[in-house]
Amino acid sequence: MPAAEATKQSQGGASSVVYQGATKRYGHSSAPAVDHLDLEVEAGEICVLVGPSGCGKTTSMRMVNRMVELTEGDILIGGESVKKRDAARLRREIGYVIQQVGLFPHRTITQNIATVPQLLGWDKERVRARTAELLALVGLDPELGDRFPVQLSGGQQQRVGVARALAVDPPVMLMDEPFGAIDPINRERLQNEFLRLQAEIRKTVLFVTHDIDEAIKMGDRIAIMKQHGRVEQYATPSEILITPANEFVEDFVGSDRALKRLSLMRVGDISLWRAPNARPGQSTAEVRAELERPDVEVPYALLVDERERPQGWLTKRDLSGDTVPATADAPLGPVLETSDVMRDALADLLQGESMYAPVVDHNGRIAGILSIEIISEFLNSPVAATEEQSAVERPLAPDRASEIAADE
Ligand SMILES: Nc1ncnc2c1ncn2[C@@H]1O[C@H](COP(=O)(O)OP(=O)(O)OP(=O)(O)O)[C@@H](O)[C@H]1O
Ligand SMILES: [Mg+2]
Repeated sequence: MPAAEATKQSQGGASSVVYQGATKRYGHSSAPAVDHLDLEVEAGEICVLVGPSGCGKTTSMRMVNRMVELTEGDILIGGESVKKRDAARLRREIGYVIQQVGLFPHRTITQNIATVPQLLGWDKERVRARTAELLALVGLDPELGDRFPVQLSGGQQQRVGVARALAVDPPVMLMDEPFGAIDPINRERLQNEFLRLQAEIRKTVLFVTHDIDEAIKMGDRIAIMKQHGRVEQYATPSEILITPANEFVEDFVGSDRALKRLSLMRVGDISLWRAPNARPGQSTAEVRAELERPDVEVPYALLVDERERPQGWLTKRDLSGDTVPATADAPLGPVLETSDVMRDALADLLQGESMYAPVVDHNGRIAGILSIEIISEFLNSPVAATEEQSAVERPLAPDRASEIAADE
């Protein structure tokens, strides 16, 4: 194999996955569950399989680690056929995360994460170091290590599931509706955490969902499947939103494509508004003058502390004295970050019943104000409506972008 080809197939602990006419027929059933599936997933990418119930998503995924045996065709991991591998070993080496989490109830969190390393005969010290590292990686307090699964919330259990799947640094991760059973708020958090984690670990991930919004948010590429594992379109989220290949894809993506495109943007990608900022002790006359300027974008003043972190909205009463008070009368409401996905930001605004939300940078410093009006203007703009042109390419997570910059 030429060297360039080899790097493309396996990069820093991630391997490509290539389906070649992969077919699964269960028992004697006449119609195959998956019929001659061809699909190439590049090393380090998240490929989302999305489609209606029973279309063969789980089957396609399980053929990769041979939990389901291929009837016909092949799957190559890092260029090597899964059929040449020992099935039990393959299962251990490939991370697998499912909706039901499937933690062992009578083993502690640490023991759960250590399951596969122990099976592989790692020595005690190596197992201990790895579990500690993984707890930190998925953002769990080390103290939770001694608890049992029932003593954790659903979201925490799901993080343990991810940590366990990552235990042996797998070249491929299979995730079957991993966040399907989690409430919407925690789900959003887990999705964001996983994207941040992925920016660091860059695994090849096959991710199943039947939620198109989740697919758009999580996928580098999305395979839209219909019955028998037939891929109707395999493309990036923006390509799917902008040029759906056919009616099936169009129906599946839904009519509110402009709205869905918000999932491709981050809050920092749009021009934000400015609100007059006020510091405790500042003269209120100055602030009132700013509010009265004809070009004021936000008709309220934002109280910020000495490090420009938003503290609250100042009311008329707050500004009736000579100097700006140390606390604001009106609560701050939702505070967004420049790295938040725009669709989640809109949900936060609507949920908080706020017209305006302060946006902060990663240091918590005010970066601008997002309003419902800005989003609505974007949705009605020719950029969002155009069919030919990509409104935005899916932006990199900021840490991923700086990581790439650091590499160069
Ligand atoms: N163990 C099995 N024995 C027989 N048929 C099966 C088995 N597992 C799945 N099937 C059938 O294969 C087809 C594909 O099932 P699969 O579980 O892969 O679908 P899916 O896309 O994951 O669906 P869902 O979204 O509901 O999880 C279905 O028709 C299903 O009934
Ligand atoms: Mg399934």
